[in-house]
Amino acid sequence: MDLDANAMKKLVAEEAVNRYVKDGMTVGLGTGSTAKFMIERIGQLVAEGYDLTCTATSVQSEELAKSLGVKVVDLDEVGTLDITIDGADEVDPGMQLIKGLGGALLREKIVAAATEKEIIVADQSKLVDKLGMRTPLPVEVLRFGHKHTKFALEQQGCKAELRMKNGEPFVTDGGNYIYDCKFEAIEKPFFLESRLDVIPGVVENGLFLNTAYDVLIAKSDGTVESMSDALIKKRSDVLNVIN
Ligand code: 5RP
Repeated sequence: MDLDANAMKKLVAEEAVNRYVKDGMTVGLGTGSTAKFMIERIGQLVAEGYDLTCTATSVQSEELAKSLGVKVVDLDEVGTLDITIDGADEVDPGMQLIKGLGGALLREKIVAAATEKEIIVADQSKLVDKLGMRTPLPVEVLRFGHKHTKFALEQQGCKAELRMKNGEPFVTDGGNYIYDCKFEAIEKPFFLESRLDVIPGVVENGLFLNTAYDVLIAKSDGTVESMSDALIKKRSDVLNVIN
């Protein structure tokens, strides 16, 4: 089997729903082309009679879910979400992530913080040795004084580009701009996050650190690997050698 990118996205999104979503749960719906397949599978479960209460990380995901008959409520109408399934742009070996190329990082981070188990779905092309190697780091900023914010972002060692759409700055669901910040590689993501968080004008950054409960990776051979299972196995193999 040699799956293309779209087939891998569908495979991993459906596997995540089948593995983690149970009747009666509250579910966070991610955003992006992989999350779209997840929402479609959730729609099938609802059609089969599952009672799911969902909250969406973007207007786009909310509209898709509602069109499939899925109950979508405001985040503040639910307490803790049992599960959220979302995509990612980069995944490092320790399940640290870059998200936000789809422009929904702010709501995605708020929803992730309200979630017990954040499940990430990605295909093998998203795996990197170090964050920032492949994609820029999206940073959502206030429109007010954004060129000053850009200057402060570049002080952190990146080239920051204002995201554009149809010749105009891209505007997020929160009404903000995004700067895509290209680093060579992010050597110290926790340190970088602490620097970004104190820049006036930065609303949120696309580093999702210690957020994922599990990352499911689709491979072109048609298999799906759980990074969490693999890490647990690695640990127990080490303990077996020590004992
Ligand atoms: C949106 C995101 C997406 O999850 C991320 O961009 C992955 O998208 P895709 O599944 O289309 O590759 O963070 O803000």
